Amino acid sequence: MGTHDDVRAHAWEAAGRYAAAFVNDGDRVGLGTGRAAAAGIRALAGRVAEGLMCVGVPTSRASAALARELGISLARMRGPVQVAFDGADLVTPSGLIIKGAGGALVRERIVDDTAGRFLVLVDGPKVADSCDAWGVLPIAVVPFAAAYVAKTLAEFSPSRRSGRSDDELVIIDLTIPAGADWQAVDAEVRATHGVVDTGLFRAMPADIVVGYPDGTVRTLDRLPDGAKG
Ligand code: A5P
Repeated sequence: MGTHDDVRAHAWEAAGRYAAAFVNDGDRVGLGTGRAAAAGIRALAGRVAEGLMCVGVPTSRASAALARELGISLARMRGPVQVAFDGADLVTPSGLIIKGAGGALVRERIVDDTAGRFLVLVDGPKVADSCDAWGVLPIAVVPFAAAYVAKTLAEFSPSRRSGRSDDELVIIDLTIPAGADWQAVDAEVRATHGVVDTGLFRAMPADIVVGYPDGTVRTLDRLPDGAKG
């Protein structure tokens, strides 16, 4: 991790602590994937070490391994979770968010969408006024259909990642033209046979937690307008 990431890690830790504080005894907790989610898992493990009783439902093998190593009990996805926390690649003031740089978007959707409360953990550089600031929509695709999907969605310059997701899906990054209606594009992409899910998510601005390197956090609904990208 470089110096820049060292500084950002303090911000993710702050957001992670905030999320872990929402977990109550007996909760099933969705454990997201990525650096901010890992910070949340570490914070949750701290609470478990102090006696909190909860069960984690991990969204990736990596998050499962981290949680297990830190002493968090794990369960399979069998029903709704009370709380889920997860990272994002970009968040907007309206609550539209892009996920999936880590390739775990399918499990993240399944877990996050069932959550009584879905907390999104980011830092300042991930807050932007539009999805255009990220410009990439990852999609998860059935391997059999990967070539077909890439051809069908050629207008979005599909770029296939090497390897497969934890569910053996192919991840393809689509480049979305600036000014596009991301929700309309998302609907078009989802209508393509073979596409399992996309990285376009929604969350309540009050549940989008922006951490800062000084250890403070602010939810997106409370950011001054000038700080929203
Ligand atoms: C994983 O598939 C992603 O959705 C991550 O949650 C997202 O990429 C954010 O990851 P970082 O917190 O590592 O930036």
